[in-house]
This record gives sequence, structure tokens and C-alpha cells, in this order.
Amino acid sequence: MNGFGMFIDKLRKNPQTIVMTEGKDERVLEASSRLLASNFLKPILLGNPDEIQKAAEESGFNIRGAQIVDPMTYDKIEEMVDLFCEIRKDKGLTPDEARELLRHPNYFGTMMIKMGLADCMLGSSSMSTSDTVRPALQIIKTKPGRSIVSSCVILVRPSATGENEVLAMADCGINEKPTVDQLVEICEDTANCAKNFGISPKIAFLSYSTKGSGHGEDVDRMRNAANKAREEYPELMIEGDELQFDAAVSPRVARQKCPNSKVAGYANTFIFPDLNAANMGYKIAQRMGNFEAYGLILLGLNARINNFSWGSNAMEVYSMAILTAALDLN
Ligand SMILES: CC(C)(COP(=O)(O)OP(=O)(O)OC[C@H]1O[C@@H](n2cnc3c(N)ncnc32)[C@H](O)[C@@H]1OP(=O)(O)O)[C@@H](O)C(=O)NCCC(=O)NCCS
Repeated sequence: MNGFGMFIDKLRKNPQTIVMTEGKDERVLEASSRLLASNFLKPILLGNPDEIQKAAEESGFNIRGAQIVDPMTYDKIEEMVDLFCEIRKDKGLTPDEARELLRHPNYFGTMMIKMGLADCMLGSSSMSTSDTVRPALQIIKTKPGRSIVSSCVILVRPSATGENEVLAMADCGINEKPTVDQLVEICEDTANCAKNFGISPKIAFLSYSTKGSGHGEDVDRMRNAANKAREEYPELMIEGDELQFDAAVSPRVARQKCPNSKVAGYANTFIFPDLNAANMGYKIAQRMGNFEAYGLILLGLNARINNFSWGSNAMEVYSMAILTAALDLN
């Protein structure tokens, strides 16, 4: 993996600000104290300043120099309310409803990004994934040319050769059962994200069938998506049929089941048929295969916003802040 060193170099050349929505979370405080000790990514902590300072003192982290913004007492809240209502006018959002929603740090922070008051944002999954991503979907929306926001997870573990083994899996967090066209989008966005981590993507569309060995609607959906993605992105290494996981990663199985494939046996980028499979798949790799998991990394969103997950430690929060700021930074 090119590693976080490359991301940090990118940020050193172009320092950024990042909103951290959970300002008094101990992991956020530790990550922020590390970021403040360097000069490439400046945290903006959301929350009550007294409570944040007290939490920092109690946990022993130095957050001197951090900007703290309190959504409850923000002096330009009416400007924010007006813009939020304008963005959601088709949905009939009233100023009172907007004010109420902006009390939630994820809505407030997302509006800060929309207003250009910060470069990027790291929210938390102290609520469900649905609640944490909804503000971004409603306010920021998709990038031009994209119909959905999706997500991937990057998995990293040291290998015997000394090189890190790096994999990408999608969509692990957002779309319950992507259509053929959505799978094609997820494939390209995941491949682009994977490249940032030094992966040369070899992409497998996963199924319970390998090249027609099994039958069913989901098999057809994955095969059609694989074919379409290969047609649309000839520059990417995509197996143009559906693969079972063992055929995707085991050279021995691949030799038996699809001897002519350049991807089968060596896949490192996995497009799953649905959210159930993808979410379980990455967690099995993380917990039983001893991979570190970075994500959910949101794809197709027109801003740099991610959330750290419930189980993250301070180092993972720090890493997520860095990759959120550096990925997609021109
Ligand atoms: C993404 C998700 C949160 C949206 O849920 P929701 O808010 O109930 O869905 P809605 O249909 O009301 O959509 C809300 C807005 O988001 C938009 N949206 C929904 N899914 C979207 C997607 N995949 N990409 C882009 N925009 C999307 C909708 O168009 C809508 O926009 P609008 O309000 O401007 O019209 C939902 O798909 C979900 O819960 N996914 C599963 C998440 C999960 O449980 N993950 C667990 C693994 S970590």
C-alpha cells in the first residue's frame, strides 16, 4: 500500500480543515491532538466549548488551537437556516424544522461543508449508518454524472513478503440491492478509490455462481453488471462474468473453473451483490482474517464526507480523518 504517507504529503502541499462532529468524543480528541501537532489538517470540533475543554482535560489530550463551533449558539445560524430551506424547498422544509435539524452535528457539519466553512467532514456512527449519511444525501447530493452514493471499505494486512495486502470491497454500507447500472457505477468508483491505496484493481463481481455454474436472478444481475462494466471501462481489469469468492481469490480453484481468466484467482477488488453480503463479507475479513478496515468510504458524493464507525479506536479515527481529507483532493 502506498500508505498514509502519500496522503499526508498531499495534505502538506495543500493543508485542509476538517469538521469533526463528535467534538467531545475521547477518540476524536486524541486524533485531534495528533492532527494539531502537525500542520496539514486542522480539526474543527463541534459541540459545547466548555464540555469539549473539560473532556480534553480529563482525557489528557492537548487540543490547544482547535477551532470549536457550537451548533447551539452559532451566530450565523439564520444564514444557515435560509440556505438549508432553499436547498430543501422542494420538500417544503420550514425554518423551524431546519433550525431543529441543525441542532444535530451531522446536519450542522454538512451545512458547514456546503457553505464552504470547512473543506471536509468526519462524522461518527454514534447513530445508525442511515442517520449519519442522510444529511449528506439530502444536502450535498451526488457528483455530476453519478446517480447514487455508495461506499467501500479498504482492508489492509501485512503479508509474508513484507508488502501490505490491500483489498477493496463494495458496497458495504448504503445500497441494499444495487441494480445492474448501480453496480457498474459502484465498480468504477471503487476501482478509483482502490487506486489511491496503491491497488491495481482486479475486479470480481461476486455471486454463488461462477460463469453460469448456478442459476437465478441475482446471478444474472451480477453477470450482466460484470459484462456492462467491462464494456464501459475497458481500461479496468474486470472479469466479465460472475465469480464465486473462491474462484476470485484462489489460483487453484480459478485454474479449474475459469482457466482463461486474467482476474480469477487474483482478484483484489470485490463488488458484492447486495448490502447483506458486502457488510458481512468485510466484517468476516476484518475479524477473522485480521485485516484493518478503513471505511465506510463514501463514493459518488459531491463532497469529502465520511463517518467513523462505532468500533473505531483513536488511531482509526485519525486515519479516517486523513484519508477523508486527502482522497479526492486535487
Ligand atoms: C442510504 C439510506 C440511508 C437512505 O435512506 P432514507 O433516508 O430512508 O431514504 P430516502 O429514500 O428517504 O432518501 C433520502 C434522500 O437521500 C437520497 N438517497 C437515498 N439513497 C441514496 C443513494 N444511494 N445515493 C444518493 N442519494 C440517495 C434520496 O434521493 C433522498 O433525497 P431527497 O430527500 O432529496 O429526495 C438507505 O438506503 C439506507 O438506510 N441504507 C442502508 C444503510 C445501512 O443500514 N447500512 C448498514 C451497514 S453499515
